[in-house]
Amino acid sequence: MRFQGQVAIATGAASGMGLLFSQCFTAEGGSVVMCDVNEAVLNEKVAEINAKEGGRALGVLCDVRDYAQVCSARDTAVREFGRIDVMANFAGGYALRMLKVDTKGKDFCDLPIEVFDWGIDVNLKGPFYFGHAVLKQMREQKSGLIVNIGSITGAEGDSKGLDYPTSKAALMHGLTKSLAQAGAPYGVRCVCVSPGPVLTRASMANMKTMLGRAADPREIIDLILFIASDQGQFINGTNIMIDGGRDAMKRVQE
Ligand SMILES: NC(=O)c1ccc[n+]([C@@H]2O[C@H](COP(=O)([O-])OP(=O)(O)OC[C@H]3O[C@@H](n4cnc5c(N)ncnc54)[C@H](O)[C@@H]3O)[C@@H](O)[C@H]2O)c1
Repeated sequence: MRFQGQVAIATGAASGMGLLFSQCFTAEGGSVVMCDVNEAVLNEKVAEINAKEGGRALGVLCDVRDYAQVCSARDTAVREFGRIDVMANFAGGYALRMLKVDTKGKDFCDLPIEVFDWGIDVNLKGPFYFGHAVLKQMREQKSGLIVNIGSITGAEGDSKGLDYPTSKAALMHGLTKSLAQAGAPYGVRCVCVSPGPVLTRASMANMKTMLGRAADPREIIDLILFIASDQGQFINGTNIMIDGGRDAMKRVQE
């Protein structure tokens, strides 16, 4: 019960790693405000968590691209649970996949610009907005942790979905370091965790790693929980790759 009495906000919490984080955090005694745009699934998952032993979950319909909704999610966490110990920014994705764009025979510059707005806004603006919003509360508490989720693609680039590596690289470096600097006077940390392929979707098994496999989502969440736990308190202002050696493998091949 490492997180007894602690409170987290998780975005993208209706599925994948955001959901798994919420399940694991509450299983260890913490309470969680789960934010997502998929209200039906969110409500179902919140009810499942609340039917189990452990901390409480609360679902909040929140589009991370909307600053008013972001502030409202923060205010709900403080009103209902009194504080925010962990802000975990999972909402995100590869826009061309999320928006089901047909890319056949098209280059980056042939694809409609609005598609890329989605990626920049959800992947980058969302964590930027939440960082701004929760820092106010964490400054008052004089403690807190903000976790951003980068990606191996932020280090590698991508020739079609340029919004994805662009926004993820910004999280991995500029935003994470800057929030750590902004939070340091108040004991607030910021860390980025950047996975290689993760089996939240079966297709991720096709992406090569040095270990010859993709990650089980639990491997990524275990790292995040360690960073949030008493044992992880010295980790700050940095990007941690958790990619089965894919980053190192590419360098060796070149
Ligand atoms: N799965 C991988 O292989 C992998 C690898 C590297 C990084 N990541 C990153 O990890 C994070 C989680 O990935 P996943 O595979 O678990 O995701 P997922 O696709 O299973 O879940 C994403 C969730 O975000 C929600 N969402 C979408 N737009 C939103 C918005 N505007 N506001 C609030 N919520 C919104 C969706 O409804 C969904 O529930 C993402 O940021 C992703 O880029 C994933």
